Amino acid sequence: MSPGRLETLAIHVKPMDNEHPMNSIARYLQDELPRINAFLDAQAAGLDPVVRPAAQHVLGAGGKRLRPLLALVTARALGCTADPYPMACSLELLHSATLLHDDILDAAVMRRGRAAAHVEFGRTETILAGDALLALANKLVADYGIPRMNAVLSEAILRTVTGEIMEIASVRDTAMSQERYYEIITGKTAYLFQGACECGAILSGRGEAAERAAHDYGLNLGIAFQLVDDALDYVSPSEVMGKPSGGDLREGKMTLPLILHLRSLAPQARQELEARIAKDELDAGAARGVADAVAASGCAEATREAARVYAARAAQALDAFPGGQERDLMADILELVLSRNK
Ligand code: FPP
Ligand code: MG
Repeated sequence: MSPGRLETLAIHVKPMDNEHPMNSIARYLQDELPRINAFLDAQAAGLDPVVRPAAQHVLGAGGKRLRPLLALVTARALGCTADPYPMACSLELLHSATLLHDDILDAAVMRRGRAAAHVEFGRTETILAGDALLALANKLVADYGIPRMNAVLSEAILRTVTGEIMEIASVRDTAMSQERYYEIITGKTAYLFQGACECGAILSGRGEAAERAAHDYGLNLGIAFQLVDDALDYVSPSEVMGKPSGGDLREGKMTLPLILHLRSLAPQARQELEARIAKDELDAGAARGVADAVAASGCAEATREAARVYAARAAQALDAFPGGQERDLMADILELVLSRNK
């Protein structure tokens, strides 16, 4: 979608009451985190000892638990009476599996302020740990005996992998379009958010309209989340992010801030920078200079602006949800995703 069209759709998402969104989410998580973590710990403890340390490392690294939280609140917003924890936690197991594999694919040595699992426990063990978590997540959802939930989850996994494949195939492709960028982030990130919300809706048994609303909320929230992530990669210091900043540029990832920045340059400067990116000629100092220029040209902020458009679409999907604490929380999560700085 073109930026012009994005701007015409821009609506600002507002919290639904006067409380800061962080407070309501923190209060909810205070009750939920121990339950989510206990469930995840028990699952990790049951894994083969060859893969257990790598799995425990990624699961214990202080992730935001956003995906299980989304699955729980969506299910409860729709009056779910079944036990939502195995389903909700399966989304965190899946997310963790993708991170284990992603750090190997990206040759990333740090994640969440610590050594990446493959650095500490070895590649083989880490690849297998990702495989084990992927299988475990599928089994937990299959155990409900609701085929539609498995169909939604497996579609989400396939889309995630496809997004990752597309991203890797497009590394250093300086001609990459915005449309392809949106396809990549929708796949690699938004579909797991979508899967969390739609599985929550399916488990509640409220029917197709509720499932569609959950799908739209999750997918648009996920796109907004990745847009903010890609903006932060250019503006947030490494100490805050827990991983080196400017990583996307060094890895040759054509994310929206860089795509917009290249478009803003005069033809000669653009050609020069494109050639250096394509040939992987930017050393650490030069990459820092380009990253600073991307931030200074307002392209990181424009990316955040695009995130607001998708968050507004997610907020619209919430209109179909019954009012109550969980729906308010789902609106607050949108605020949190937009305002986060790590
Ligand atoms: C992080 O992106 C990576 C993803 C969101 C998806 C990774 C997907 C795979 C490795 C394929 C699927 C794997 C399984 C096991 C189903 P990023 O590299 O932009 O973010 P980062 O800076 O946090 O690494
Ligand atoms: Mg990565």
